[in-house]
Amino acid sequence: MAQLIDGKRISQEIKDELKVKVAELKAQGKTGALAVIQVGEDPASSVYVRNKKNACAYIGIESLSYELPKETTQQELLDLIEKLNADSHVRGILVQLPVPAHIDENAIIRAIRPDKDVDGFHPQSVGAMTIGQKGFLPCTPAGIIQLLKRSGIEIAGKHCVVIGRSNIVGKPMALLLLHENGTVTIAHSKTRNLKELCKEADILVVAMGKPRFIGADYVKEGAVVIDVGIHRNENNKLCGDVKFEEVEPLASAITPVPGGVGPMTIAMLMNNCVESIAENEG
Ligand code: GUN
Repeated sequence: MAQLIDGKRISQEIKDELKVKVAELKAQGKTGALAVIQVGEDPASSVYVRNKKNACAYIGIESLSYELPKETTQQELLDLIEKLNADSHVRGILVQLPVPAHIDENAIIRAIRPDKDVDGFHPQSVGAMTIGQKGFLPCTPAGIIQLLKRSGIEIAGKHCVVIGRSNIVGKPMALLLLHENGTVTIAHSKTRNLKELCKEADILVVAMGKPRFIGADYVKEGAVVIDVGIHRNENNKLCGDVKFEEVEPLASAITPVPGGVGPMTIAMLMNNCVESIAENEG
């Protein structure tokens, strides 16, 4: 039986640590707010945004909510970001993605001041992470590193296979595993012999966005399996990219869906917000 990597418990542990830190910062006169911007009413985005605001309330930081209509122009959104960039009380700015198609996502990401880029998506943040310099780390991959560390799983020297090369998960995940001295392979939709490659992984991170794609035939006995996928099946039940019941008996440790990687993204967002408040010189 595999060790269940409990993201719900670990994210709660992190939020409780942050709650203490926020109170200490408050006592030193250091406060600040997270601005959360949503354009349009995508139902999944609304759930994420609500969870982010609830997490702020839980750890004791202020959140400012901007719910903009889907017709909002790019310039109007850029003007709001400019106003929040200039507001010293605002220590984090988050624009929930995706934005409507008439808005250039990259232009929005570039407009956020890197010292308020708590998502870690700005090219300056990505560059700093790449060369191991100071900057905000993207929340989902940083959360996975925390899941591994807090579950007592050693990364150094391990063969880590990451399936997926998105800017938000796959690419930064590979870099963070490399920084932990993993030996990293990135696989993607054009990779040949994906099954054979996955079977060589000591740590397999699956972020391919295909419901229940990875079965027991992709997994080496004793591997650690991290499932980043989140989908609804035909019965409206949540599932990941991994066939959990098939892979679990083989793995040494595995994340469930839900309750694995998902809650860690928000915990690490809160971590970035607290760091930003701590480092604010006014
Ligand atoms: N959409 C999906 N994941 C994320 C995330 O981590 N941050 C933002 N801003 N939007 C997202």
